[in-house]
Amino acid sequence: MTSQTRMAIKMLFYVLSLLSTVSGIIEECENIRLLYNNLQHRNRLEYMKNNFPINYTIRVHRNEVLRVSKVKRLMERDNATELDLQNLWLFTSNNIVKKIQDVLPKKHPSRNYTIDLLDILDIEVAVLPGGIAGDIISRLRSPEKRGKLISVKPKALLDNCFKVMHLLFSATCILS
Ligand SMILES: *[C@@H]1O[C@H](CO)[C@@H](O)[C@H](O)[C@H]1NC(C)=O
Ligand SMILES: *[C@@H]1O[C@H](CO)[C@@H](O)[C@H](O)[C@H]1NC(C)=O
Ligand SMILES: *[C@@H]1O[C@H](CO)[C@@H](O)[C@H](O)[C@H]1NC(C)=O
Repeated sequence: MTSQTRMAIKMLFYVLSLLSTVSGIIEECENIRLLYNNLQHRNRLEYMKNNFPINYTIRVHRNEVLRVSKVKRLMERDNATELDLQNLWLFTSNNIVKKIQDVLPKKHPSRNYTIDLLDILDIEVAVLPGGIAGDIISRLRSPEKRGKLISVKPKALLDNCFKVMHLLFSATCILS
């Protein structure tokens, strides 16, 4: 094989791997947009508020809720990358939606909504983030590090997921 041929083959592999990365992002963005539409206010209101008793709350651990203020701190102070934070969001949202689903009886009118959300979150959560975002997930895996229990309304939990999603994905996936 001449060095020119080797170079050509190398270039080809480079282009192919670049293409697969790009198509990975495009596929992921399709799922992200689907999730984003599913999390629109109308749905959060109907499935997470109107279908529940008044002032109903769910017990979650404080650190299981990923808030905008925390994400901003991780970006600005800890230099966490957007990709790591996106994966952290997928992980924490998956966990929160499962907690909501856990309190719903099989025939509850909001159950299918949580199933639809988890259908997408379950595939996307495969990549675990590195850096400080990865450390946060490791901590969430040990029960004693999840923080104290707090009572939060289900809609407030998803309102929070939606706000953080908007912060982290609008640039990458052009959410509107
Ligand atoms: C729901 O919570 C609000 C605010 O804390 C309170 O004013 C209201 O009385 C509660 N409603 C019921 C039915 O418990
Ligand atoms: C984050 O980046 C800034 C600027 O590059 C640097 O001064 C700071 O030490 C970094 N912080 C951490 C926690 O790595
Ligand atoms: C949930 O989805 C299943 C399967 O698509 C359907 O049979 C069922 O009627 C739905 N339940 C509600 C409450 O919408």
